[in-house]
Parts: sequence; structure tokens; C-alpha cells
Amino acid sequence: MSAVVKIMTDSAFQQCLNADCRATFGVDQTLFACPDCGDLLDVSYDWDRLPIPRRALFGSMRVDRSDPLNFSGVWRFRELLPFAPPESIVTIGEGQTLLRGSDRVGSYIGLNAGGLLLQYEGLNPSGSFKDNGMTAAFTHARIVGARRVACASTGNTSAALAVFCSATSFGFRAIIFIGTGKIAYGKLAQALDHGALTVQIVGDFDDAMARVRDVTDRLGVYLMNSVNPFRLEGQKTIMYRILEAMNGRIPDWIVVPGGNLGNSSAFGKAFLELKQLDLIDRIPRLAVINAAGARTLDELFNERGLRWNDGRPEMSLASDYYAELDAAGKKASTIASAIEINRPVNLKKCLRALDVMDGTARSVSDQEILDAKACVGAGGLGCEPASAASVAGAKRLREEGIISPDETVVCVLTGHQLKDPTATVAYHAGDQELFDSVLGSRGVRRAGFANRPVVVANQIDDIIRAIALYGEPES
Ligand code: F0G
Repeated sequence: MSAVVKIMTDSAFQQCLNADCRATFGVDQTLFACPDCGDLLDVSYDWDRLPIPRRALFGSMRVDRSDPLNFSGVWRFRELLPFAPPESIVTIGEGQTLLRGSDRVGSYIGLNAGGLLLQYEGLNPSGSFKDNGMTAAFTHARIVGARRVACASTGNTSAALAVFCSATSFGFRAIIFIGTGKIAYGKLAQALDHGALTVQIVGDFDDAMARVRDVTDRLGVYLMNSVNPFRLEGQKTIMYRILEAMNGRIPDWIVVPGGNLGNSSAFGKAFLELKQLDLIDRIPRLAVINAAGARTLDELFNERGLRWNDGRPEMSLASDYYAELDAAGKKASTIASAIEINRPVNLKKCLRALDVMDGTARSVSDQEILDAKACVGAGGLGCEPASAASVAGAKRLREEGIISPDETVVCVLTGHQLKDPTATVAYHAGDQELFDSVLGSRGVRRAGFANRPVVVANQIDDIIRAIALYGEPES
């Protein structure tokens, strides 16, 4: 190990989030909660001892793309997540993503031309943002010598886990826990195709999450959910890539769907550190968007006043809310199955992110999500329902006047359209039975965005008439 690398890895540690504990542990330990008080852990750094290139964010340094660490959209920012020696990094080429402006979607939201940028994470090897986190967590798993790795998932974490196990040669074996009937087919297909042991438990994600913790404790299996603080280190880089693509300009807003609240937590940590390191002079605002049928953050933040409170949030507000949900027999329910979560494990870290980024939270209906998704698709990027919550949420905040028309907004599209073809086809297609079974029961109406397939007789004249009805392209 070179001297510089040794300083890097010696300067990283795990630290308890609890303001009254703050216990620290080595990065060579396998912990998914503070052993002293049970709270979440962060990966922290002694930045004064670390080399931080001033231009780390803005690209031009890492031109040799034949080096896998420079190719990776996560590890080309390795100075900003310096917990691993380069030779232990597990990468499969994650993070080759895209920041693309869309005036069409921007005008749907109500923004001026040039105001909307979409950060498309569907381009990752497993088709969602999860790969950013997995590369970091697998690197840690390799460092601590783990082999069996597990997660509970609404589908994308498990897909990423399965892909990383099958794409690498370090002997990792994937065990995934999913709720029954709760996972979109594209994601289930990935888990099965990539050879993961797929355990379908009777229950939903919140149940599966509780069980996977028991199992990993009991069997000493390495836990890959976002309570694993190394996951979030990788997910910070989504923000670095946005700044990189904007050539150092800082957007006014980052808007992201919220489920287990790992991403939003990671984004807050990214900006907190960039500011501490004096690499940016301004922090964008954050909006975290729940689905209306799984709106824990919106409820706790907006209705019950739960705040970070300098590291001492009143978490009894959350446990009271969970007890009320249980008493009413209320389970999370939304077409955006990826964020069908009532008990977000990273709630406390997300409160910190909202504090750091002067953030807010909202929830949007399944109708708003699917209409926004169709608009994103018509604008040239395909995303799954949960991802479109960011666009629907930005529209809502724009209508409320919280976002103004001249601001620059980045909506994160977290997962690829092909993850959940059923929702897309049910929304667009003419098949009433499919519509009723997938969307009708959720109170979704067919909206003006539905792009119905046209059924025509196999006759040239009928086909030409159908094309004529479609109209001429706009000049
Ligand atoms: N978008 C997509 C496409 C997701 O898959 C998820 C989470 C989220 C948004 C929410 O992100 O949890 O960081 O707030 N999916 C997890 C899973 C829960 O198991 O795949 P978060």
C-alpha cells in the first residue's frame, strides 16, 4: 500500500449519528447499526489528513477511461469517498449516467426554457441508481471478507445486488427478500436471471426489511440495504456528476423520490461535505417526494413538525405515527412500487439532509406520478413510476410557488422505464381489463397523455387512413 493510500484509508471511520453517542468504529468493521446505542452509522473522514484535489469535481483530471476506476462514475470521485484502497474496489462500470435538459418536461412543470435538467440513473448496469451504492458497499464487503450478501427490496436493490454478484469474481452469493406480489416484473426478472436466491416472504417491503435484519444478524450475512453506510457513500456521487455536467454551476433545486430515504440522505451528506471542503459556495435546495400511499416523510415533516433539531430529532413522532398505521391496519400502497415503504430506515439521516439543504417534502398521487411519467417518456427518457414522482413533485412545488419559474431544477430519474412495463402498458394501452386490474383500483383515470396503440385491419387503405389521422409533424 502506498503512503498516500495508507493515509486515505486510516483517515476514514464509522461514526454513530446519535448526537448523544457519536461512538466511532473502524472501517474494517462490519456493523449496520451502532453497537452502543443502535442508531444509524455514517462513514466519516478526517479531511484535514486527506488529499482533496480542488478540481476533483470537474472532470478534466480523469481522462484515461481505460482505467476502470476512472471509467466508473463513482470512483472517478474517489477522493470524496476515501475509505478503500484502490486495489480493493469492486466496480462493474456503474455511473455512466446522463444529465439532460428537457424543455418539454420543464414546461409541464411550469419552468422557463432551460430550467429543467433530468439526471437519468436508468443507464446504470442494473438499470437504476442503486449501482452507485452497491459498488461502494461491495467494496466494503470485499475488504471485510464477506461472501454471502443480502437485502430486502422493492426490486431495484435486489436487481443491483444480483448483478454485482454475477458480474464479479470475488465469490459473492446473493440472497434477496421481497414482498409477495410487490415487485415489478422487470426487477424480478433480473433477480432470477442473475442467479440470486430469491426469498418471497408473505408480507410487504417493511416486513421483508425487518426479517432481513433478523436473518443477517443470526447468520452473519452482510447486509446490503441502505442502512449500510457504505452504500450511501457511493450514492453521493450522483450529486458530483450533476455538478460535473453543469461545469460547476449549482442548480437551485434537487428533486428526488423518497422511499427508504437513502438517496436523499446521501445527497445531503454530499453537499455537507462539499461545503465543508470549500469546493462549493452554495448548496441547492432539496425536495423529497413520497407517493401519497406511502407518505411517511411528508406526514412527519409537514404535519407533525419532525426536524433534524441539531442532531436530536424527536423520533417518538415517528414511532407514534407507525403505531397509528399499525392500529389502523394501514399498509403502504402505490403504483410506484419502488417507493411503497411506510417505515423508511434512513429517516433520521434524511432529516439531516433536509436541514443541510433547506429542504422540503411532498407526496403525489398515483395519477400525478403516471401523468408525469408519460410526459417524461414523451420528452425522450424512459423512467419507472417511482422516478416520475420527482417530476410530479417539482410540478406541485412549482404550482405552490415554492419553486419559481426561473429556477434551475434537477429531477433525479432513479430507474429505467423497462423495470415496470406493466404500469406503462396499462396506462397507455386500450386493454380495459389490464387497465382495471393494474390502475383502476387505484383511482387512476386515463389521462390526455395516454398514447393508445391503434388497432387497424390488415389492409393498406385502413393503415394509410390511420397514419393520416395521426397528423403531420410540427414544423
Ligand atoms: N426510485 C427507485 C426506482 C427506487 O428503486 C427506490 C428505492 C427509490 C426511488 C427510493 O429511494 O429508498 O433511497 O429513498 N428502492 C429500494 C429498493 C427501496 O429496494 O429497490 P430511497
